[in-house]
Amino acid sequence: MVAKMLPRSWISACVLVLLLSLHPRVHAFYLPGTFMHTYSPGEVISAKVNSLTSIETELPFSYYSLPYCKPLDGVKKSAENLGEILMGDQIDNSPYRFQVNVNESVFLCTTDPLTKEQAELLKRRARDLYQVNMVLDNLPVMQFTEQNSVIIQWTGFPVGYNPIGSNEDYITNHLKFRVLVHQYQAQGDVVVTSEDGVAMVESDRKSGFQIVGFEVVPCSVRRDPESMSKLKMYDKVDSVNCPLELEKSQAIRENERITFTYEVEYVKSNIKWSSRWDAYLKMDGAKVHW
Ligand SMILES: *[C@@H]1O[C@H](CO)[C@@H](O)[C@H](O)[C@H]1NC(C)=O
Repeated sequence: MVAKMLPRSWISACVLVLLLSLHPRVHAFYLPGTFMHTYSPGEVISAKVNSLTSIETELPFSYYSLPYCKPLDGVKKSAENLGEILMGDQIDNSPYRFQVNVNESVFLCTTDPLTKEQAELLKRRARDLYQVNMVLDNLPVMQFTEQNSVIIQWTGFPVGYNPIGSNEDYITNHLKFRVLVHQYQAQGDVVVTSEDGVAMVESDRKSGFQIVGFEVVPCSVRRDPESMSKLKMYDKVDSVNCPLELEKSQAIRENERITFTYEVEYVKSNIKWSSRWDAYLKMDGAKVHW
């Protein structure tokens, strides 16, 4: 398995090292092509999705091989920068839309009744511990879980889960995102003089928000497909607490219609953009998925 993995990652690493050595102003840990972006309040950013991966198997699958909600303007390959092209298996756009510094809870879609094949596939992916790898502003989504009273962090969230003592599988269909934002105050506009002597104001870096953390709490929530399917994508829904009771969670079954929703909460943070990767580098032996 190691031998199988080697060539591609080895070539990628070589290309990366080569590019980094050619680039005169490279800071440690910055992936090529990822630049600091300051967003205005309300500005819309879409999350991207990479292949579904599992620690149990080395075989990735496309995100849209599962019956997930699709973006309104269709699925498009979305690797934009060199880091993503080198690291990504298959990066696609997603309908998960983030309005900077606007807390909201929204509806995405309700699927058609699951076919036998779709239900079996979802169950299989959940049991094989497949996880969704989502990326916002180049940051992989991070999840925190508690194991033996130790907080463990890793990237991605599970497709579903099979609770101990239950022979049913449950799907992750509601995501509670926490986006850490660093409020950036521009130093003021810079007055420059153009060649023909006209003074112009150039606002080099606008004030706004930089994204310095992307976290998720995945939940499985049973919804009423009749009332939910009347909604349009991004219509508001009530915020929910992740249910602990299985009867309030969404089982993966043939003929079941699954509703996907998510909520976003923006939390101000002191983390600077240049340190936003520190949380990932601290992860113990965990693999960062792009
Ligand atoms: C969003 O929610 C968080 C957490 O509840 C809160 O601290 C923050 O002030 C809210 N932001 C806005 C813009 O309402």
